[in-house]
Amino acid sequence: MNRLPNTPFVILGLAILVAAAAAAEDLPHVVVLATGGTIAGAQPAEGDPGYKAGSLSIDSLIAAAPGMDKIARITGEQIASIGSQDMNDEVWLKLARRANQLLATPEVDGIVVTHGTDTLEETAYFLNLVIKSDKPVVLVGSMRPATSTSPDGPLNLYNAVAVAADPAARGLGVTVVSNDDLFAAREIQKTNTTDLQTFISPNRGQLGEAYYGKVWLFNRPINRHTTSSELSLDGVEALPRVDIVYSHANADGTMVEAAVAAGAKGIVLAGVGDGNATKPMVDALAAAAKKGVVVVRSSRVGSGIVRRNIEVDDDTLGFVASLELNPQKARVLLRLALLETAEPAEIQRMFDEY
Ligand code: DGL
Repeated sequence: MNRLPNTPFVILGLAILVAAAAAAEDLPHVVVLATGGTIAGAQPAEGDPGYKAGSLSIDSLIAAAPGMDKIARITGEQIASIGSQDMNDEVWLKLARRANQLLATPEVDGIVVTHGTDTLEETAYFLNLVIKSDKPVVLVGSMRPATSTSPDGPLNLYNAVAVAADPAARGLGVTVVSNDDLFAAREIQKTNTTDLQTFISPNRGQLGEAYYGKVWLFNRPINRHTTSSELSLDGVEALPRVDIVYSHANADGTMVEAAVAAGAKGIVLAGVGDGNATKPMVDALAAAAKKGVVVVRSSRVGSGIVRRNIEVDDDTLGFVASLELNPQKARVLLRLALLETAEPAEIQRMFDEY
């Protein structure tokens, strides 16, 4: 007959297991919502610079970042598996609604969204306007695929989970972690096609750092977001069409007229310089505004502030100035604003505040 193992050791082992389980239960609960991107990218062959974004599952991402189980109790859900160049309204609405549902439960302390970097700034700002919780929501991506020689995704994910688990990150609005830096969703911009240090906040600087799981804050957002946002997805099945029109030397009004013909309710100008455009393009925008299309002037320049009535008479033409928002972020705010109003003066207030 097999002898029972020595009882005191069995009791000690059980006690250790129970203590470990209890300790894990005491950790903050972070839910990782995966959408795809390079952070989940896989190369067809080792060393091949090419890869397919969104190839790997959320479980493999979590497994590739050891030690996270010491800073949070992590659960995961696959919302989508796409390169973020294919990000779309269906995923946006699903992601925002699932995040709000999870954040409304006391069991969830924070959320991490894994995402491609191409449109990460757009999704981050969209969530910044429609998430109805002050709990941390952190977006994270990577510039190298998960299968590369020295992937940046695992440490980015580890740091993102650390921010999502940190009570000090409550009330910051939606944030983004990349390459040890912590950014506000409203301020961040992708500025390099391949560099690890691609994300910067050109106008206001970063919020702080997230360095090997330690969060350092040296800034806080001052614009309205999340729980102070009046913008909502309640009852929304579709977002209004808003097109971006890029200005350049010798531009005419063709692309503006095409946007109007396509049913755009708003047009964002990616203008030259301080939100300027050729006279033919400004005339086409003015004609669109007269038809009730809301026109927002932004700039292709990448930093600085587009203010009202500098070289374009916004008051007379009925245009809105985007202030610091680049064209892709101005489009996000304009789409949500158009759910509430088409009055340019009211939409300008929203650009002033968000
Ligand atoms: N396909 C791009 C995307 O998913 C790759 C860029 C990245 O994720 O870093 O945004």
